[in-house]
Amino acid sequence: MGDPVVAGLKGSYVVVTGGSRGIGRAVALAFAREGAAGVAVIYRQGRLAAEETVSRLRSLGAGESFPIQADVSRWEDVAKASRVVGERYPHVNVLVNNAGVMQVGGVEETTPEEWRRTLEVNLTGAFLATKAFLPLLKRAPWAAIVNVASIAGQTGNVVAGIAYSASKAGLIGFTKRLAVELAPSGIRVNAVAPSFVETDMTARWLSDPAGRERVRRLHPLGIILKPEDVAEAVVFLADPARSRGITGHVLSINAGRYT
Ligand SMILES: NC(=O)c1ccc[n+]([C@@H]2O[C@H](COP(=O)([O-])OP(=O)(O)OC[C@H]3O[C@@H](n4cnc5c(N)ncnc54)[C@H](O)[C@@H]3O)[C@@H](O)[C@H]2O)c1
Repeated sequence: MGDPVVAGLKGSYVVVTGGSRGIGRAVALAFAREGAAGVAVIYRQGRLAAEETVSRLRSLGAGESFPIQADVSRWEDVAKASRVVGERYPHVNVLVNNAGVMQVGGVEETTPEEWRRTLEVNLTGAFLATKAFLPLLKRAPWAAIVNVASIAGQTGNVVAGIAYSASKAGLIGFTKRLAVELAPSGIRVNAVAPSFVETDMTARWLSDPAGRERVRRLHPLGIILKPEDVAEAVVFLADPARSRGITGHVLSINAGRYT
């Protein structure tokens, strides 16, 4: 292992699932600004958005960035994505498990299929991507995993649905257990738990002024969170020069909302 404090994020290789838009895109761009050599942007649909993200990454200096189409809930897709990354990058320093889907409704409104699909993407997807990329993470002089959980995994008092909440609570358990498993390898594993962030996922609640005001009032700081607010926290948790003593932690980004 090299000295992680000296290494920092400069020249690092990063994989972001769901990196084509929203929080994942902001995360990818933040790593490029920190001097990453390349960010592999995994996306399921929306090739144009993924290509646009990659061209922004390259113009920020992350010249080895590229898009990969893969559904994180499918092992064949994720295993193939890791093979492609392994052919282009010497190792992976950071894996950000960000891909996710929203689901609304309680037990009575949620169909078994919706339940399964939400868990498959939000929770199983993180397990599959971690499993597929672990050999490349282990090859790196230092490595970290950051999982994008949610306030919905910490409290029941949210508009998100039952399957979404369960998936994000599961992701928090996954983070804690994985942190212990990978500590002997020096790989740190943490999560962020954002409240409402302004992205396509939350557009239905934020598209009109009254909705925005309701969301703003939910948060004691009186702000609506932006993808960049989450990205800064992800960079902090990934960078060994800033957080080498932190693993198994869930960092809330909630503008003071704890219920
Ligand atoms: N926006 C919020 O308020 C908020 C709050 C807390 C947590 N989160 C979490 O942050 C993450 C990003 O959300 P966002 O708000 O940017 O949403 P978004 O809908 O804008 O982006 C989701 C991304 O995930 C990708 N994705 C979805 N299903 C996929 C699959 N099966 N395989 C591969 N990629 C897939 C999409 O292509 C897209 O790039 C999600 O995990 C979400 O649950 C969002």
